[in-house]
Amino acid sequence: MYCTRKITEDLYYIGQSDRRLSLFENIYPLENGVSYNSYLLLDDKTVVIDCVDKAISNIFFENIEHLLNGRKLDYLFIQHMEPDHSATVDELILRYPDVTIVCTQKAKEMIYNFFENTKAKNFLVVKEKDTLCTGKHNFTFLTAPMVHWPEVMVSYEITSKTLFSADAFGTFGSLSGNIFADEIDFEHEFLDEARRYYFNIVGKYGVPVQTLLKKASAVEVNTICPLHGPIFRENLEYIINKYNTWSLYQSEENSVLIVYSTIYNNTENAVEVLSTKLAELGVKNMGLFDSSKTDTSYLLSECFKYKTIVFASSSYNAGLFPKMETLLLDLKAHAFQNKNIALIENGSWMLTAQNCMKEIVQSLKNVNLIEPTISIKSSLKEEQLAQIEELAKALVNTL
Ligand code: FEO
Repeated sequence: MYCTRKITEDLYYIGQSDRRLSLFENIYPLENGVSYNSYLLLDDKTVVIDCVDKAISNIFFENIEHLLNGRKLDYLFIQHMEPDHSATVDELILRYPDVTIVCTQKAKEMIYNFFENTKAKNFLVVKEKDTLCTGKHNFTFLTAPMVHWPEVMVSYEITSKTLFSADAFGTFGSLSGNIFADEIDFEHEFLDEARRYYFNIVGKYGVPVQTLLKKASAVEVNTICPLHGPIFRENLEYIINKYNTWSLYQSEENSVLIVYSTIYNNTENAVEVLSTKLAELGVKNMGLFDSSKTDTSYLLSECFKYKTIVFASSSYNAGLFPKMETLLLDLKAHAFQNKNIALIENGSWMLTAQNCMKEIVQSLKNVNLIEPTISIKSSLKEEQLAQIEELAKALVNTL
């Protein structure tokens, strides 16, 4: 049975959530699935704005058929060619062979890369600020390369002041029928997942996100329709400000995050002692995570959130414990920057973790490496408590 919801006059939500998916992009764990959003406009001309993942193709096509109610489909806007949105493009073309595909030149090339034998025949290739009138509605297309792929564009509809923002402003997490952010407690139910989505998926591309935010700030926006997660139609400054903070690589939490890798809990003991000292010195809202217990995508998101971070790790195979190495390399790959960082290493027969961590941390942009770095041989000793206290004070001074 079709399942659609009206957004504004003539505009309908035709996507759905996939609650069974356990790994987004086959790498990011999902606790509560993800939504694949798509939109249909019924104007003098009819428009589908982006397709969906294969997982929800049945309901997607049923929704289109229901809303068109015998009308032809005039346009398909392809804003982004990643398969979580484009996997159903070729089937849509087969069902609506006369549809005109509106996309950037790069997206057109990608259509042929993904669908070698596509029957697509009508294209309207658009460039920055090209416009399209569908009757009552007027669209302007804004290119948004690297948010999150190079072919991306977003579409601004002038009459309703709606921004179709592609991956931007998206979140992990399923929708519950309440497809609007103002129908749910977004801050408590979605913000952490929005942050995790942003930094893992788009986080490397802060400069292109800033460029898109500047373009969007030049027009009046009443509604933001992203490709994942809730639609925003109230208090837009809230999510726009978050995106501004995130894409400028500014920290949200003026506190200390400690991420540790431990084998027999001795490194864990050292960071417990450190975090207790920090609490005694008045530091609030600290985070403390075991890199073996928490997936890297969550740790990465937390690292971007905090101003000051302690990485504490066991040495391993004359190198660095693999979970810590994975996290640090992932942070580097996501342009991690503007942080205060302290290091603690542990080793029983060879102290190698610190040099390995330093090599990665020192290659990051605008990092303040806090002294002292602490080396533990197997377990923290009484005579090292002064060092822990010294480090705690140095960490407090960064806040
Ligand atoms: Fe939701 Fe970059 O695709």
